[in-house]
Formats: sequence, C-alpha cells, structure tokens
Amino acid sequence: MKDSTSELDGTQGSGIDDGTDLGTDRRGFLSTAAKIGGGAALLSFGGTGLAAAADGEGSDDDPSDVEILNYALTLEHLEHAFYRDALQTFDEEDFEGVYSPGAMIFNSPRPRYGTYQRFERIRDDEKAHVDVISQTVEKLGGTPVQEAEYDFPYDDVNGFVGLARTFENLGVAAYAGAAPMIDNKDLLSAALSIHSVEARHAGYLNLHEYRLPYPDAFDPAKTMEEVLAAAGQFIVSDE
Ligand SMILES: [Fe+2]
Ligand SMILES: [Fe+2]
Repeated sequence: MKDSTSELDGTQGSGIDDGTDLGTDRRGFLSTAAKIGGGAALLSFGGTGLAAAADGEGSDDDPSDVEILNYALTLEHLEHAFYRDALQTFDEEDFEGVYSPGAMIFNSPRPRYGTYQRFERIRDDEKAHVDVISQTVEKLGGTPVQEAEYDFPYDDVNGFVGLARTFENLGVAAYAGAAPMIDNKDLLSAALSIHSVEARHAGYLNLHEYRLPYPDAFDPAKTMEEVLAAAGQFIVSDE
C-alpha cells in the first residue's frame, strides 16, 4: 500500500466543494431499507402529499414525502445509470491494470484485484435504491420519476472514478438536506439507512482520489435546489 497518510487530503469535507462536485447526500435514503425489510415498512404508512408526487420539485418550504422520494429517485437513477454504463464500457484490466484506479491506490494484490467487483457492488446498491424508492412512491400513490438521459463527462476509467466520488458525496449531502423534511418516521428510518450506504460509497471513492474517507466530524447538507442544480449538469433530458 502506498504511503497513504501523507496523501490523504482532508481539506474537503466530503469533497463537495470542488467545482464539479455534486453532493452525494440523498443517495443514502432508502437503500438499506430493502435489506432490513424497510421496504415493507415504507409501504405501510398512509400517503402524505400524494398529489404532488410526480412533479419533481415540491414547494421549497414543505415538500411532501412523495416529492422527497422522487427527488431521491432522480439522483438514484443518475447514479445507477452512471455505474451500469461505465461497467459495460470498462473491464477489469481498465480498473486494475497499470495506472488504473486500483493500481494507483492499492499495491497489494488483494485490494487491487477486486476493484472492478467493488464498483459492481456500488452499481447493485444504486439499482436497489432505485427499485425500493420507486416501489414506495407507487405505494404512496405517486408516480415514480423515470431514468433520464445523461451525459457523463469522463474519457477514461480514472475520469469515471473521479466523477463517481463527486456523485457519491453529492448524494450524502442531498440525503442530509432532505431527511429533516420527511414526515413519516418509518420513511425517515429507511432514508437514513440509505444515507449511510451513500456515505460508505463516498468514503471508498474518497480513498481512490487520495482524500480522507472521513473528511470531517460533520458532513455538510445541501438543499434540493443545490443538488438538482449540480445533478442537472449531467441530465440531457428527463425521461
Ligand atoms: Fe444510491
Ligand atoms: Fe451511492
């Protein structure tokens, strides 16, 4: 392993200060829910604010739970499509060969030759987030937002990994910003279980970028407007 300590950059909290940073907060909302049976819990509570569900952006002051879910789903779709497409573009050699993301961080074979599979796991997590949030929106009587068309500006696998770090940290900030507005406690618990998964993704990717995986004692939150503005740079068209 490299002399990692001196390379860790702890100056950027979650790394969301970069020009291209998107904030990763909201990805964490629902992912864990599926694994702990939270998906069912999410679906069991009565709908609140159902009418506004499909509109994407709710009122600034009091978005409904369904609006918040669709907000989270917008980011989860982006994340899932991002990993799905890149893993079809790059192979294990791209991730683990000379000058690859895996080789740049991990000199020992075990962590290096597992890099591609770790990204597959992140992709699968994002798919699970998309699925459970979509199901919950439907149970609440809303219309889940669909995957959009995206333009992800990376030219090689290292560029992809750098952008991944940006997305994950954006998701962390997004979930942190939206969670306090959730009315239903079951839904909040599920959202927090996803939030922590997004933070784990962000920590792993921070390491790939020579940044401290846990950059600060307190992670910053981002508003819906900030997150959607950041994510919108990569959305070519809705649905
Ligand atoms: Fe996610
Ligand atoms: Fe994630």
